[in-house]
Amino acid sequence: MSQPRVGIIMGSKSDHPIMKEAADILKELGVEFELTIVSAHRTPHRMVEYAEGARDKGLLVIIAGAGGAAHLPGMVASLTTLPVVGVPIKSRNSIDGWDSILSILQMPAGIPVATVALDGAKNAGILAAEIIGSTDSTIAQNLREYKDGLKENVIESAKSL
Ligand code: RP5
Repeated sequence: MSQPRVGIIMGSKSDHPIMKEAADILKELGVEFELTIVSAHRTPHRMVEYAEGARDKGLLVIIAGAGGAAHLPGMVASLTTLPVVGVPIKSRNSIDGWDSILSILQMPAGIPVATVALDGAKNAGILAAEIIGSTDSTIAQNLREYKDGLKENVIESAKSL
């Protein structure tokens, strides 16, 4: 297995059913990744270690998912110069999902987090692949085929009406 280029992290094991969708699409698109649990408030030192070491171990993008007071993506973004894609999760401690969204989306100027839709881990994976694909023609080609497939599905659906 070659070097992971995307790091997928999540605040809790309870986030995994959603965050697995990022892993699944990265696998489909041929992007190597690693996946683990890093909690900003339960394991703050592990979070600092992960974020500060991410570039040196060869990661190019970090996908971070969390719910409720979802500070993990922003905190990780503050500790690295890698692009961070944030996934707001409607967790059991989330009021209605807006808490997760706004905690990740409303970063102050200077520390961006590219925020996808609520529970939008699949798009986070695609966005990470697109970042990798901006300089990797194999991944760009895989993305082209994936998007062509989406187009074909619409054409087929339209025909079946
Ligand atoms: C956040 O709190 C996690 O990212 C998760 O979305 C949420 C609930 O965590 P658990 O109580 O299920 O571990 O930190």
